[in-house]
Formats: sequence, structure tokens, C-alpha cells
Amino acid sequence: MEQYIIKGGTPLDGEVEVSGAKNAALALIAAAVMTDETVVIDNLPDVRDINVLLEAIKEIGAIVDRVDRHCVRINGGTVNSVIVDNEYIRKIRASYYLIGALLGRFGHAEVALPGGCNIGSRPIDQHIKGFKALGTEVDIEYGKIITKAENLMGNHIYMDVVSVGATINVMLAATLAEGRTIIENAAKEPHVVDVANMLNSMGANIKGAGTDVIRIKGVKKLHKTEYSVIPDQIEAGTFMLAAAATRGNVLVKNVIPKHLEAITAKLLEIGCRIEEYDDAVRVVGVEEMNNTHVKTLPYPGFPTDMQPQMVVALALANGTSVVTESIFENRFKYVDELAGMGAEIKVEGNTAIINGVNMFTGAQVNAPDLRAGAALVIAGLAADGFTTVSDIVYIQRGYENFEKKLQGLGATIDKVSSDKDIQKFKLKVG
Ligand code: EPZ
Repeated sequence: MEQYIIKGGTPLDGEVEVSGAKNAALALIAAAVMTDETVVIDNLPDVRDINVLLEAIKEIGAIVDRVDRHCVRINGGTVNSVIVDNEYIRKIRASYYLIGALLGRFGHAEVALPGGCNIGSRPIDQHIKGFKALGTEVDIEYGKIITKAENLMGNHIYMDVVSVGATINVMLAATLAEGRTIIENAAKEPHVVDVANMLNSMGANIKGAGTDVIRIKGVKKLHKTEYSVIPDQIEAGTFMLAAAATRGNVLVKNVIPKHLEAITAKLLEIGCRIEEYDDAVRVVGVEEMNNTHVKTLPYPGFPTDMQPQMVVALALANGTSVVTESIFENRFKYVDELAGMGAEIKVEGNTAIINGVNMFTGAQVNAPDLRAGAALVIAGLAADGFTTVSDIVYIQRGYENFEKKLQGLGATIDKVSSDKDIQKFKLKVG
């Protein structure tokens, strides 16, 4: 089993290039099979979840040609099945985008129920509500969602909760439905906009993505396109918080600073210095960080996917901070691991009360999910001594070359697969 071994205590310093957004790219790959023409997607992150989804569309007949590590050419003209089910696809969340995509194109999709990080109950009732409103019959049988529509018809849909997944999924299906669809209380995340932009470049008629009302005029067919995925705002935010927690100085490149505003605002509040450029952000950490309060919210609020990384920084700040998780109910599981490193955090319901400490100390910790895993790596980088982070398979789902990018910033981190490797690392770095 691979682990990260880290010798902490070195402030991160240098420049890091952010990859394409995993959560946008997953939906774009699904959208690519909605046409029988060729779609080229560039700036694709080379991470596990993306590779699982590419395999899944290959299995239903699409031609997937990896032009290079970050570019893929997809042709859905040869898709010969609407049944998507294998042991890998069951583990990822974004498998559900194939429902919207295949339902839109073929009026029928049978897709394994989505998995994904265990961060709380993750219902799909809003996806189902949207599909039903478009005239789809939806059944859940044998671990699969089975959707069938004689004739997909546009409709007026009000989402009861703001959901990224449901907004994108319904948008995918409605793109090829007859007539107009209006999605109210839509999610406004940058990746919702990215999916709408790619679909529009394929001939769709979608307006309002990025606001809470999306209007879609169904079209008969989509066509080829070439599209580049937006930068990953969560990967960018993770490096920004790593800079803050290690009191480093890092230029995070290939970002859209506007997408990072909620994170930037909190870093300023805790006393970091921020320099914004057209497509880069520099974070300069400070020795004495201030406390602050954070509540996770749908975009443009503070992202739930940045909550653990923020908690790590606040656990090293002066005074008491309060972090409220309002999106997923089970996203503080990493707190026990952090406590083992000396953090003082008390969780009450969906709130973490954090008393800042001067220093963490290295320990053996487990990554309970993707973002919490990244946060524990940050904690290890800031800690005195050695930290091992196990279950890094979660981290690899969403961060490309995480350890290499950190090494480029001067971090003493390595990926190891045995105790012998750990001993070797310790001997090497002293
Ligand atoms: C997406 O998950 C992301 N995943 C998550 O990223 C991210 O944490 C989340 O959006 C919020 O930003 C992907 O894009 C693959 P939601 P998603 O539907 O779409 C409730 C990461 O680390 N809800 O916006 O599953 C739900 O329980 C991951 O990269 C319903 O009640 O999230 C939650 O409370 C983890 N019914 C809230 O809405 C539904 O039908 C937001 O969920 C759907 C959601």
C-alpha cells in the first residue's frame, strides 16, 4: 500500500502549476459522448477518477484516444450500450453524469449507483426529480439507476437544494430534450459554467450558467468541439493553504483568481499576504496567523472541498476559530487524525471549534477521503518531525503528481510502499 512520508518544518517556497479541474473534466467527458462527432478535451488532469470514467465510456463503445497525458480525443459515434457498470465506476461519484448524457442522447441509461468519497449521505433525489420532470421513468434496481424516456420534454424545474451534480446532470439531459428547460436554484460553481460552455461550443443553447437560473433550449444534435478544462480551483486552494500553514511563499500558477475569492478572503483575514495576477496568485504566509470563522456554502461561498485544508491552517493560528460545515454532514472525520498531531479541535455536530496551537508534531495518520487526505499532508508539511499518511489512493483520485508538485516547492515528501522505503527516506533526509 502506498503512503506518503513527510519530514515537516520547511516553509514551501517557489512556483506550482495547477492542473485542469477534476470535477469539471468528469462532466465534460460525459458530455463528449453526447455527439457522434469527435470531441477533443485538453488540460485534462491525469488523476484516477478521470481515468476510471474514460475506461467506462470505452466499455460502452466510445473511442478514447489519449493524445497525451493531458489531452484526450473522444468519439461517441461507436457507443453501442447504455449500460454502465463495473467495480471501478461504482467507486466514483461522477458516474452519474453518464445518466444525463446517455439519457439525453439515447433516451435510456442504466448506470451503477454512484460511490465517491464517504463524506456523509449523498442522495440523488434532485437528479431524479429533474429527470422525471423531463418525462423520464426512473427506477433503482440491482444497484443501478435505470432511466428511460420515450420523448424527453423540457420543463420548469426548481431544485430543492443547490446541487452541483444535479444541476449539471439535468443540464446534460435537457440539452437534447424537446423545447425549453428552466433550472431554478441552480448551482453556480465554475464547473457548471465550464460544462455549459463546452455544450454550447457543441451546438447547445444554454444561457444563465453561473447564475441560479439556467435556461436551456433543446437542440436536436450536438457536434464536434475542441475544449480546454478550466483550472482546478480546489487544487489551487490546497496549495494556497499549504503555503499559509507552512509559513511559505508560493506562486500558484494557471488559476482564475476570481474563482478563488472565498479562499483569498479567508487567507487575508488570517493575516497572509496575497498578490493577484491575471492567471496566478501568490500567497505569503505569516508566523502569527489570526483566528477566523468559516462556513462552507455553495459557490461563491467558501467551498466544502477546502474545509479540511482551512481547518489545518486555523489549528496553527492564534486563538479560537469556528468552522461550520453546511454541505456534507460527515466531513470532520480527519479531526481525530489531526488531534494525534497535537491539534486541539472539538467537533460538535457540523461545527469544529479550533484552539490554535504553536506547532504540530509528526504522526502516522490515515487519509479518510480526498480533501481530508490533502489536508493531512499539509499538516505533515507544517509539523515537526516525520509524518506518514496512508490510504493515499484517495488523494490520487483528485490531485495529479501531488508529491512531485510539493517537492518542487521544497517539501521533503516521498511516496513509499514499504517500511523499508520509510527507513531509507529517514536515513536520507536525516
Ligand atoms: C460535487 O459533489 C463534487 N463532486 C464534490 O467534490 C463537492 O464536494 C460537491 O460537489 C460540493 O461542491 C463532483 O463534482 C464529482 P452536490 P456532488 O450535489 O455533486 C445535497 C471532491 O472532493 N444533495 O453539490 O455530489 C448533498 O447531500 C468532491 O472533489 C441532495 O440533497 O455534490 C449535499 O448536501 C467531494 N440531493 C448538497 O446537496 C441531491 O440529489 C450538495 O451536493 C444532490 C445533492
